[in-house]
Amino acid sequence: MKSESNTVLITGGGSGIGFETAKLFVEKGNKVIIAGRNLEKLEAAAEQLGNVSIIQCDITSESDVNNLVVRITTEYPDLNILINNSGAAFGYSLAEGANAHASALKEMEINYLAPVRLTEKLLPILKNQAESAIINITSVVAIVPWAVMPTYSASKAALQSYTRLLRLSLRTSNIQVFEVLPPLVDTAFSKNIPVDKMDPKDVAAAILDGVILDKHEIRIGFSEMFYGLNQQSPEKALNALNGIS
Ligand SMILES: NC(=O)c1ccc[n+]([C@@H]2O[C@H](COP(=O)([O-])OP(=O)(O)OC[C@H]3O[C@@H](n4cnc5c(N)ncnc54)[C@H](OP(=O)(O)O)[C@@H]3O)[C@@H](O)[C@H]2O)c1
Repeated sequence: MKSESNTVLITGGGSGIGFETAKLFVEKGNKVIIAGRNLEKLEAAAEQLGNVSIIQCDITSESDVNNLVVRITTEYPDLNILINNSGAAFGYSLAEGANAHASALKEMEINYLAPVRLTEKLLPILKNQAESAIINITSVVAIVPWAVMPTYSASKAALQSYTRLLRLSLRTSNIQVFEVLPPLVDTAFSKNIPVDKMDPKDVAAAILDGVILDKHEIRIGFSEMFYGLNQQSPEKALNALNGIS
């Protein structure tokens, strides 16, 4: 996939991994649109990024998504890369009655159902281009679930499963489907997790490299190690990620 002269929509592009990815795509000479709920955050990001457009959108809201699709259709009809990056998680223990159902509902909406809807609505535009890509950000916890974020892990596993079948379904089309599996990354998302984390700049660089090389499963940092361990023994991988010896 070419890395220049694309038109790229990045959900959650106002911060963290999305922001750093937007920065790299801008530097490479792509047209970039960042989306998110918080207009002030998007405006501050746009000021730093320079040449980007912003669309305020809660991707869990059908009317917001419909408005976004109208804007893309009229203002950016050459859109050829969609990066489904927005996400959220709740940290809690399933053993402690922490209202798991309410957390799961929210996480499935933002991490799974929203990307499914947005992708479906933008598919006709992506199909119109010579070369397109859909890039879904999942996580190492899509491979091996993490007890600290139980229903988040399940939502990313759902997105992974969907991404694989989307790739299979579009294999003879002009659209390549990528999955990005970051390890723990140093962003607002993970600020309360006191362990070593990867710099989001390095995650963005790995995403761009993967896209250039047509590497459809981009496993970054320790995600690659957990992928290998899980291939050998899902039980060993589960225990290792969850610190059970
Ligand atoms: N950080 C990690 O350790 C890690 C590891 C693996 C995977 N990931 C994944 O990487 C992706 C990016 O996360 P990050 O680490 O860069 O954290 P982040 O800085 O908190 O970014 C999350 C982004 O999602 C946007 N967002 C949240 N809810 C939204 C909604 N309803 N509609 C539209 N946008 C929404 C936020 O923007 P607004 O607040 O403006 O809406 C924010 O810009 C997520 O999918 C996350 O699951 C993160």
